[in-house]
Amino acid sequence: MKIIMLGAPGAGKGTQAKKIADKYQIPHISTGDIFRANIKEGTELGKKAKEYMDQGLLVPDSLTLDMVMDRFQNPDCARGYVLDGFPRTIPQAEALTKALKEKGESIDFAINVEVPDENIVSRMSGRRACLSCGATYHIVHIPTKKEGICDRCGNDLVLRDDDKAETVQKRLNVYHEQTQPLIQYYSDEKKLVEVDGTREMEAVFQDIVKILGA
Ligand code: AP5
Ligand code: MG
Ligand code: ZN
Repeated sequence: MKIIMLGAPGAGKGTQAKKIADKYQIPHISTGDIFRANIKEGTELGKKAKEYMDQGLLVPDSLTLDMVMDRFQNPDCARGYVLDGFPRTIPQAEALTKALKEKGESIDFAINVEVPDENIVSRMSGRRACLSCGATYHIVHIPTKKEGICDRCGNDLVLRDDDKAETVQKRLNVYHEQTQPLIQYYSDEKKLVEVDGTREMEAVFQDIVKILGA
């Protein structure tokens, strides 16, 4: 099963993608997480990506595409994957469609998690992320057992550099300009499905399971 998660920053793509990956036993591929891991390790790619990410801008397509195509070579992708944060521009979507077509494949669903901009800013300011294992929490909606400590791996949680209020607004603008057109793209491809992302996390997941099948 090959799934794409679409939605604004903070819509809950990562939250739902992790649950999908667990249930259907496919890898969760988050380009944001891969960039953040590279930043943490201080790689060349990380250094380049950080310049854009901290400003709320997209990392250039060329860097992103090389990284994702490389990730697809991993044998764990044989049974499919859930893509979170990729594609994010029309050229990225076209490159993905082309790469799959060359293998006689296509994605199964592009799931758009709909959340209005008004809800986004409060979600982001309350988000806490674990840079070690990729888990995300929310100080009100999804609290950890021990404040500031990851339930899954025990490392410290942080507020992401790009989750500051002024950067969130910029990311929303970039989303509307560059990523929202993908909704029409996948609608034209007959792959688009939509879920109401304003509902409680588990309710959103049940809507997704109804679409994907048990
Ligand atoms: P990325 O890491 O992908 O960030 P994003 O798209 O901005 O999305 P987020 O991770 O912020 O939100 P999310 O939808 O995953 O929400 P989450 O589940 O955490 O990208 C970061 C940057 O990397 C980009 O800005 C760009 O620079 C670069 N980049 C990445 N991919 C790229 C690409 N393909 N091309 C170019 N550049 C790229 O949920 C948010 C919060 O809400 C959490 O606290 C969560 O606990 C809470 N929450 C979730 N669901 C619910 C619910 N139902 N009710 C209440 N709270 C909820
Ligand atoms: Mg995310
Ligand atoms: Zn962790």
